Amino acid sequence: MQLSLAKIKSEKEIVSLAQLASDIWHEYFVTIISKEQIDYMVEKFQSVPALTDQITNQGYEYYFMTSQGDPMGYLGIKQDAGKLFLSKFYIQKEHRGKGYASQAMELLVEMGRKRNLGAIWLTVNRHNASTIAVYEKKGFRIIRTQVADIGNGFVMDDFVMEKEIEFI
Ligand SMILES: CC(C)(COP(=O)(O)OP(=O)(O)OC[C@H]1O[C@@H](n2cnc3c(N)ncnc32)[C@H](O)[C@@H]1OP(=O)(O)O)[C@@H](O)C(=O)NCCC(=O)NCCS
Repeated sequence: MQLSLAKIKSEKEIVSLAQLASDIWHEYFVTIISKEQIDYMVEKFQSVPALTDQITNQGYEYYFMTSQGDPMGYLGIKQDAGKLFLSKFYIQKEHRGKGYASQAMELLVEMGRKRNLGAIWLTVNRHNASTIAVYEKKGFRIIRTQVADIGNGFVMDDFVMEKEIEFI
């Protein structure tokens, strides 16, 4: 099934995005981080006010992933210092493992080429092994570890990964 990316602009779309994000984060991260930390991170990074601020004031772009019908995933990016930061990359459970992430990655590489960017980089929780394996399969490599204090006694314990964009 062909994947499309739809840029999120309206307040109504941001409300749907916040709901989708909360659903996926609570479903997926339970085995990796505590429920308290998920609640805290969803509120801090993926709530309607947080998303609105990122999109309006911080240069973030969010896109729904759709194939036919309703969004089944989303991604967030930020263009910075000649590279594309892939800030968020989430697909609903029932749509995983069907190649949509590979299609989305192709579209991101294409976007990066058009914007003349040299690489895509991201952060991923060090214990998120299956996702790290997906990123490695897609050509990312680990360049460093990063522990970020996000307040309330919580930290994000991440790998920073990067993939060069080849110009062909
Ligand atoms: C990470 C995520 C976006 C990937 O989406 P997906 O639909 O599962 O991925 P795809 O089916 O498109 O697979 C992508 C590629 O990785 C490969 N792959 C999938 N699982 C793999 C695994 N466990 N080990 C190695 N390769 C794997 C696939 O074969 C495919 O490769 P190919 O197209 O080059 O043959 C999705 O699983 C997800 O939302 N996970 C939960 C949330 C999350 O961790 N998000 C990222 C936070 S940083």
